[in-house]
Amino acid sequence: MNRLRMAVIGVGHLGQHHARILSLQPDVELVGVVDSYTEQARAIAAKLGTTPYDHFEPLIGAVDAVSVVTPTIHHHAVAAEFLRAGVPVLVEKPICRTVAEADELIALADAAGVPLQVGHIERFNPAFEELAKRPIRPKFVEAERHGPFTGRSIDIGVVLDLMIHDLDLLLALVGAPVARVFAVGAAVFGGHEDMVNARLEFENGCVAHLTTSRITRHAKRRLRVWAPEGYAGIDFVTRKLTLVQQSEELREHGIRAGEMDAAAKARLKDEVFGRYLQVLNLDGDRKQDQLTSELRHFIDCVRTGNRPRVSGADGRGALELAERVLAALRTHPWEGTADGPRGPQGTPPPAGWLFPPVQLVRNHAA
Ligand SMILES: NC(=O)c1ccc[n+]([C@@H]2O[C@H](COP(=O)([O-])OP(=O)(O)OC[C@H]3O[C@@H](n4cnc5c(N)ncnc54)[C@H](O)[C@@H]3O)[C@@H](O)[C@H]2O)c1
Repeated sequence: MNRLRMAVIGVGHLGQHHARILSLQPDVELVGVVDSYTEQARAIAAKLGTTPYDHFEPLIGAVDAVSVVTPTIHHHAVAAEFLRAGVPVLVEKPICRTVAEADELIALADAAGVPLQVGHIERFNPAFEELAKRPIRPKFVEAERHGPFTGRSIDIGVVLDLMIHDLDLLLALVGAPVARVFAVGAAVFGGHEDMVNARLEFENGCVAHLTTSRITRHAKRRLRVWAPEGYAGIDFVTRKLTLVQQSEELREHGIRAGEMDAAAKARLKDEVFGRYLQVLNLDGDRKQDQLTSELRHFIDCVRTGNRPRVSGADGRGALELAERVLAALRTHPWEGTADGPRGPQGTPPPAGWLFPPVQLVRNHAA
């Protein structure tokens, strides 16, 4: 089998891992890494034994597929050039900065007849893969995604940076359009929003609550789903999936409390889990690397021409919903009045200190 000639455009924090993994694939030849920061391109290329470039242009015509891992503001410009040349593209999430840009990428990929995949990596989390196989129709969902401040992705806010993962997962799970969006959030460091809570109401009656922050001390990434079929809880960090469903007895007869004597009622709480509610805990394979799965899937789509699991249209769907969350955020009235402060930048000034401020001693000599 011919080796696929591939390159990674943007080899910063995440892109260097795309490049490392591609360099290890026996059916791929990593023909180059590109970074506008020349030193970074050189350092990663030297580590992986490939050629550094400070611009992607020379690679057009010399590659069979690319991974675009530049900051989001550059996704469209870079990906469009490759798609125009008929080169399949894996572009990191969010697909682009705007839906209009995403539409253009999708049209270019369609015109060239090549796969366009978007890097919504949680779709490759083994716990989510297990859940997605099962017949579940979510009616109430809670998603929490909290991470420490990294200083990266500050060209965008937390909705496009982190919440978009859960927006994509929700759209994939619920499979219905969103009717209404409510959102509140604050820009703690200025610039863009850093923490957001959103409520989504889907046209099929499902309701989802999402809380996302990029300024918490400890990472937490969880999804909890209630459905007529049962409950599903995912911990994306440990890759654990917990499933709970009603037993056949409970589905058929319910709990017949009226027919129970005192002894049966006393036993009830011990019988809830087991007799009435059955639990299955699935431990995801902690060795399975999600980025490798995502890249292998892309390679497979390039070879077969199959539609990627996370297509350009999926990336666009998540982005469009993210834009609706951002629009709802911007209109949230903090004081409940139409003419009062609004949106993440309009947080009212503090009324006082929660505790006496700690005086930091600065070592000016250092
Ligand atoms: N899927 C995920 O879970 C996940 C996680 C982190 C980041 N991301 C996404 O990956 C992308 C990159 O994030 P990062 O954290 O690696 O950022 P980063 O800033 O660490 O790296 C980006 C690199 O791209 C280079 N660059 C900028 N413009 C370029 C251009 N036009 N051509 C070539 N190189 C260019 C920069 O010099 C830098 O080295 C973002 O879109 C981000 O949203 C996705």
